[in-house]
Amino acid sequence: MKLSFSKRKSGGAAGQVDFSRLPRHIAIILDGNGRWAQRRGLPRTAGHKVGAETFRTIATYCRDIGIEYLTVYAFSTENWKRPKDEVDTIMGLLKRYLLEAIDTMERDNVRLRFMGDMSVLSDELKALVDRCNAISARLTGCQCNICINYGGRAEIVHAARDFAIDCGAGKVKPEDLTEELFEKYLYSAGIPSPELLIRPGGEQRLSNFLLWQCAYAEFYYTDVLWPDFSKEELHRAIAAYQHRDRRFGGIKK
Ligand code: FPP
Repeated sequence: MKLSFSKRKSGGAAGQVDFSRLPRHIAIILDGNGRWAQRRGLPRTAGHKVGAETFRTIATYCRDIGIEYLTVYAFSTENWKRPKDEVDTIMGLLKRYLLEAIDTMERDNVRLRFMGDMSVLSDELKALVDRCNAISARLTGCQCNICINYGGRAEIVHAARDFAIDCGAGKVKPEDLTEELFEKYLYSAGIPSPELLIRPGGEQRLSNFLLWQCAYAEFYYTDVLWPDFSKEELHRAIAAYQHRDRRFGGIKK
């Protein structure tokens, strides 16, 4: 269901958002779960559990206001270095989310896509990913891209390798390669680049996320930790984006 926010009068940061001029694609680095928990004397895993709830709230809201694509960094290629119980908790939360999605995505017309190297996931998780992909293929609505075992450099190397394989097989020639063709080899093939990248948690770095796709993204950083990230904070990020002067290397008209 798409709500008519453009005509709605709202207080807070929502009042500063032009809902008729939203970014098509928002990317978010889900950061700060561990610190959120530690500040409360809780195990880090408690932060991931609340972080998964926050993701549900924000993803639903993005769908409601008409964001076409939401991409989140749920687990990086480097996150395997974390303690086993933390990795297991995150994988368990992903499994729970996918099980819920399988029951609800058709009703909500929400597509899921997964970006990253899925080959190392458990067979159970891989099977759930496949089921979500099969359902998504029948749907047309808002698309949520979940990056799991994802790294931006690994994605580019993977794309380059696949292109080289196609060259070897005679399907394409090296001189055919353009930016447009290369994009077809990325996990994000067919998805427009994010206009807005949000990083909660106070850090101001990209951390190997969407290196290719964020070439012209507007960055929004906030000290708010991901579990505390709210619709109000999303409004602030979108309002800040709408005030940016996007020149793409050109000059102001
Ligand atoms: C970064 O915070 C967060 C993660 C590595 C995991 C994010 C995963 C979830 C929210 C759960 C499942 C996700 C979905 C999409 C259902 P951090 O642990 O690095 O925080 P810190 O910087 O405070 O230590």
